[in-house]
Amino acid sequence: MNKIDDIKNYAHENHVPIMLDGGIEFLCEYIKKEKIKTILECGTAIGYSSIQMANCNPDILIDTCEIKKELVEIARKNIEVASLTNRIKVHECDASTFQTDKKYDLIFIDAAKAQYKKYMDHFLGNVNKNGVFVFDNLCFHGLVDNPSEAKSRNTKQLVRKIKLFRDWICNDPGLDTQFYPMIGDGVAIVKVK
Ligand SMILES: C[S@@+](CC[C@H](N)C(=O)[O-])C[C@H]1O[C@@H](n2cnc3c(N)ncnc32)[C@H](O)[C@@H]1O
Repeated sequence: MNKIDDIKNYAHENHVPIMLDGGIEFLCEYIKKEKIKTILECGTAIGYSSIQMANCNPDILIDTCEIKKELVEIARKNIEVASLTNRIKVHECDASTFQTDKKYDLIFIDAAKAQYKKYMDHFLGNVNKNGVFVFDNLCFHGLVDNPSEAKSRNTKQLVRKIKLFRDWICNDPGLDTQFYPMIGDGVAIVKVK
């Protein structure tokens, strides 16, 4: 078993949500095709997606934000084992308050699903001219399109918020959005015009 499979197994055994296979494969293909060099990620968890993205190309640099201290520690360890500490920097913070002057080719938003608009607004000034935002979980396990199947009130509210955000990115004339409902848990690539 390779290191990335170990991380994936750990995530599944410990109920740490990570990107689905289809989603991460799609994202890595995009990174390679578009020759992405700089990435900001919101929601590191244990470093699975940042390690996968860094491995797309040897000169990719990643800043990644994670709010939970215990996950930051595991992510840093995994990144060290993968010999990627010089290219992936884990910031222990709330992504919606992370301050940087850097501009990125790709900003991957995968933290709190109800806060996607907040993160996007916060990082509007940090995306390169031809850069993109990428969002995962826009179908939220099929519940966004079948909200009556959501069991709890909290989930119903969350699903409603994701739907509002998804409708906004798909319809706002100031955005150029490619939404892929069949990839992973629903992925979108958004360019601000
Ligand atoms: C779906 S997981 C990220 C999975 C990871 N991108 C992967 O595929 O390997 C979402 C993570 O976002 C973190 N998170 C939630 N709210 C956050 C915030 N405001 N700032 C930073 N991280 C946050 C959670 O603790 C969780 O670890």
